[in-house]
Amino acid sequence: MASPLAIEFASLSARLAPTVAVLAGEEVSLGATGRNVDEHAKGLLGKAARAAGFTGKARTAIEILAPAGVDAERIILAGAGRALGEYDRLRLGGFAYAQIAGRKVESASLIADLADPGETSPETLAADLAFGALLRSYSFDKYRTRRNNGNETEGEAPRDGLRRLIVHCASPDAAAKAFASRRAVAEGVFLARDLINEPANVLGPVEFAERLSDLARPDLSVEVLDEEQLRAHKMNALLAVAQGSARPPRVVVLQWHGAKSKRAKTLCFVGKGVTFDTGGLSMKPAAGMEDMKGDMGGAACVAGLMLALAGRKAAVNAVGLVGLTENMPSGTAQRPGDIITSMSGQTIEVLNTDAEGRLVLADLLWYAQERFKPRFIVDLATLTGAIMVALGKEYAGLFANDSKLAGELAAAGEAIGEKVWRMPLAKAYDKLIDSKNADMKNIGGRQAGAITAAQFLQRFIKETPWAHLDIAGTAMDSGRNEINQSWGAGWGVRLLDRLVADNYEKGEK
Ligand code: BES
Ligand code: MN
Ligand code: ZN
Repeated sequence: MASPLAIEFASLSARLAPTVAVLAGEEVSLGATGRNVDEHAKGLLGKAARAAGFTGKARTAIEILAPAGVDAERIILAGAGRALGEYDRLRLGGFAYAQIAGRKVESASLIADLADPGETSPETLAADLAFGALLRSYSFDKYRTRRNNGNETEGEAPRDGLRRLIVHCASPDAAAKAFASRRAVAEGVFLARDLINEPANVLGPVEFAERLSDLARPDLSVEVLDEEQLRAHKMNALLAVAQGSARPPRVVVLQWHGAKSKRAKTLCFVGKGVTFDTGGLSMKPAAGMEDMKGDMGGAACVAGLMLALAGRKAAVNAVGLVGLTENMPSGTAQRPGDIITSMSGQTIEVLNTDAEGRLVLADLLWYAQERFKPRFIVDLATLTGAIMVALGKEYAGLFANDSKLAGELAAAGEAIGEKVWRMPLAKAYDKLIDSKNADMKNIGGRQAGAITAAQFLQRFIKETPWAHLDIAGTAMDSGRNEINQSWGAGWGVRLLDRLVADNYEKGEK
């Protein structure tokens, strides 16, 4: 990893670093501390803003060098716009971070003070800004031996600058406390990003499982099922995907025990972990195939979520299951037309070996229900190209058999900026995957590809409340923004952490 950025909280009167970021709201409105700086500098901030045409709009900034009357060498005025919502605050923190880091300084002060903070407490503002800055600071550069490959346009250069960010606010102790849980979530996001960004030669099923084994700690158990155990469980659908690869599959079960009540039912999260998807014998075209190193984005999210829940000691019992395999063509690979018997006993005619994610999930979902009798299951999978045709990269597809769970996910997504859009499930679509030769086939027709994939998964759900997130569009390469500059965004960690925090912890405490 990933982010050596150290974050500290200090009072508004504490000594400032030579580089200071001040937040300016609409019409360059400043908080009390900003006004104070401006007074010492004899109105320079306002004057500079007018000269530059800076109005305090979000995602704009100006730099004032060597201001007279104050100690700072440089003041960055960062536009806050109307930073009212939680996600706005994260983005503002990320934007301020980028403005500072672009100046190549080692340490800097960020004054967490707004003219109009609305309902937001000073410590929440400070902690959210710090969280946004931390998320933005991540970069995946472990394989870059030179800073500049002669190509400045390939993402942000490896960070050579900012190591320490001091966030000044009215109550630094309270802010530090509020930040602790956010830091734990950031660590989960970074784990997910690292796993997604890692190339498939380095990260196969075995290596992925090893990385998860390293997460074990009190109350977070990690269990790795090897090929023999998967066979004993009759996970033949998952094994059919793996059989073409020289690298053996793994299933990893992570369990977090944080609930106070003994009767608390387990929350269950399941992730597709295809460490590389060639399509198998139904092979994908060469162009863009490299992106299929990210076909384990669902599993990465589940891993990151479990780390986040453990890190902030969430008051729930949760289990995370990931199905890890490659999808490769070879003399041992499954063939189109093969019929396999899944763990559930239902038979599947494999008409396209590139529709492999649903095969992996079929057995995992069944296993999850048999073993844990969970309160709900949320699965995440980079499942279909079709979901991108429908929703692009802004929203992940949400399919659910339970409107309460669907509503909770949608609300969590709106709050933290990882949005989901509910798609239909219905009998009429289910018919599209009936097979003449087996209980079902693994592809529908040309139409409704993301829906028929979800219908397929639903055939492995019993009575359990269940939601499926098709994250093919959001897990990787989903547009860089204020809080993420990485190809693998770690999408879903913050969403599911919020789902848990807002809906499943309160009664448990
Ligand atoms: N992993 C892919 C889906 C995918 C495509 C994710 C592009 C991210 C970016 C999945 O295994 C797949 O190949 N799906 C097929 C299903 C089809 C054969 C029914 C697809 O979407 O084309
Ligand atoms: Mn595929
Ligand atoms: Zn796939």
